[in-house]
Amino acid sequence: MMQNEEIKELLEWYIMAGVEEIAGDSPFEAIQKENSAPALSQLTQIRKEISTPSSQPLRKATTELAQAMQNACQSARDICAKAQTLQDLKEVLSGFDGCALKLTASNMVFGEGDEHAKVMFIGEAPGADEDRAGRPFVGRSGQLLDKMIEAVGFKREECYITNVLPWRPPGNRTPTDGEVAVCLPFLKRQIELIQPEYIFLLGASAANALLDIPDPISKLRGRWLEYCINDTQKIKTLASFHPAYLLRNAGQKAKAWVDLLRLKSQMEEDKKA
Ligand code: URA
Repeated sequence: MMQNEEIKELLEWYIMAGVEEIAGDSPFEAIQKENSAPALSQLTQIRKEISTPSSQPLRKATTELAQAMQNACQSARDICAKAQTLQDLKEVLSGFDGCALKLTASNMVFGEGDEHAKVMFIGEAPGADEDRAGRPFVGRSGQLLDKMIEAVGFKREECYITNVLPWRPPGNRTPTDGEVAVCLPFLKRQIELIQPEYIFLLGASAANALLDIPDPISKLRGRWLEYCINDTQKIKTLASFHPAYLLRNAGQKAKAWVDLLRLKSQMEEDKKA
C-alpha cells in the first residue's frame, strides 16, 4: 500500500513528465496497429454519418456555431476600435456578451497599473482569488509575480498587469481557442492604448495567443521577440514561465530570473542609447 508521501511524489513525477490526464488504471499501447483499425473505421463511419442528409441539422448547428463565433470576434474588434481610453474599454468589456465565461465568473478582471507603464506583464486568465477580488494576479501566483517584479528593481504600480482573458475559466481549466479569439481584441486594444515599450508574457497561453505562435514556452522563452501593433509599431517582447508553473517547479526559477535580467539590461541599454 502506498503512503501519502509516495503518492504525492508519484503524482509530482507524472506532472513533471507532462501527464495531464489519466486514461486508465494500467498503461496500454494507444497507437497499436490492431487497435487503430476499429478506431479508423469508426472515424470513417462518423464522417459518413455527418455527410448524410439525416445529419443536416448537425451540420447546420456546426455552421451556425462557427458563424456565431466569427460574429462575436468581429463585434469585439468593432467595439474595441471605438474605445479611446482604458476606462472606455473596461466599460465596453463589461457590457460585452460574446464570451460565455462571463456567465460563470464572479467578477470581470481588467488590467491594472500605470496607464503609461513601460512594461506590461500579461498572464493567462484570472484564478479563484482574482475572480473573487476582481483584480489580476492577487493570489499566490500574484505574490510571486510581485517578488519577480521587485527583484529586478520595479514596483508593481509602475507596471501594467493584465491577462488574455478577463473572466476565470471554471476550475481554472485551459481556455479554449474560441474564448481566446473572442477576448484577444480587448487585450490588443489595452496594448494599443498603453503603448508599453516592453511586454513580458507569462506562460504559454499568453505567448501563443499574443504572438500567434504555437510553440511551447520552453522554446519561446528567453529570447527577444516582437509584438507588432501594426507595420510601424513593434514592441520588444519576452516570454517566460508563468508564476504558477514556477510555484510547482521551483527548479525553473533560475531561468525566469535570467529572463527578467534580460529585460532589465535591455531597458538599461535602451536608456543609454
Ligand atoms: N494566473 C494568471 O494567469 N492570471 C492571474 O491574474 C492570476 C493567475
